Amino acid sequence: MSITVTDAAQLLLNRQLVAFPTETVYGLGACANAEEAVEKIYALKGRPAHNPLICHVLNADRAAQFAELSSEAYALTKAFWPGPLTLIVPLKDPSFVCSKARANLNTVGIRCPDHPIALELLKHVDVPLVAPSANLSNQVSPTRSAHVRDHFPELPILEGGSCQTGVESTILDVTGSTPLILRPGGISAQDIERVLNKPVIYKTTHNTITAPGQLQVHYAPKVPLYMDITTPHPEEIYVGFGDMVCDINLSPSGDLKEAAQNLFHTLRTLEKNGQPISIAPIPNTGIGRAINDRLQRAATKRDSSE
Ligand code: TXA
Ligand code: MG
Repeated sequence: MSITVTDAAQLLLNRQLVAFPTETVYGLGACANAEEAVEKIYALKGRPAHNPLICHVLNADRAAQFAELSSEAYALTKAFWPGPLTLIVPLKDPSFVCSKARANLNTVGIRCPDHPIALELLKHVDVPLVAPSANLSNQVSPTRSAHVRDHFPELPILEGGSCQTGVESTILDVTGSTPLILRPGGISAQDIERVLNKPVIYKTTHNTITAPGQLQVHYAPKVPLYMDITTPHPEEIYVGFGDMVCDINLSPSGDLKEAAQNLFHTLRTLEKNGQPISIAPIPNTGIGRAINDRLQRAATKRDSSE
């Protein structure tokens, strides 16, 4: 069901769920303080209760009503909001975000989406909206409304076209002295370092303390998927990048942004087709890091004898 922004706002304020577009992927939204609606999100997605949701806000001032924004956090919002950067910061006023939405943590993930419809919706409801990606848990995130409908045929959906960024936001934990990237996304470590003028590190299994749900999250495609492949097997669909011979190309011109935009739609389409997928090497720079991160979560290892 496609709806207007006014309808969507009304449904949300009545504690219903609505899917809405962002620049990264479509979100499955609810008012952050509506506990029953938040419970429905977890149930509908089949999401474990220990995996907290991100709060979407209109701007940094709205975020500051319930979250502690350090001067560094402010500088990042100034540089990258609206945009694909989620900041993990201490929670100040728990009345804005029910405990189920943040898995009982005393921190909260906040972001301001760069999509005119999402911003209009946030203006209408005037409360933070929690929204995980609008897909069943452990499946690929939706970058078009049709993808949302595939998983949730009954859900009211705000139509917003194809998502421009195409992979989920960068998640940056700024609660410690060294900023930690919990999930690579549309904003790179170098982008962040330029603003903060200090090093930023990527979460690894060795330095992780928080990030519930981060490590286990694994997208399990219905067909085997192999990455970094230069010689595909004949039975596989070969997904290329750049000027090369392949069955389908994420970006013939070798543009990582274009590849990110096409990634999830391509995976969904190929998954339905049923053939194993092999994917050419993707440079691990800029948004390429996010592409490779998502592929790693989906990939099967090639038998080393092959
Ligand atoms: O681009 C995006 O971020 C999309 C759009 C809809 O905004 N949303 C999204 O949400 O990807 P989701 O729920 O699929 O992923 C949110 C991630 C989860 O892995 C969760 O563990 C992490 O954010 N997260 C949320 N709050 C956190 C917190 N307080 N501490 C650590 N990680 C947190
Ligand atoms: Mg997700």
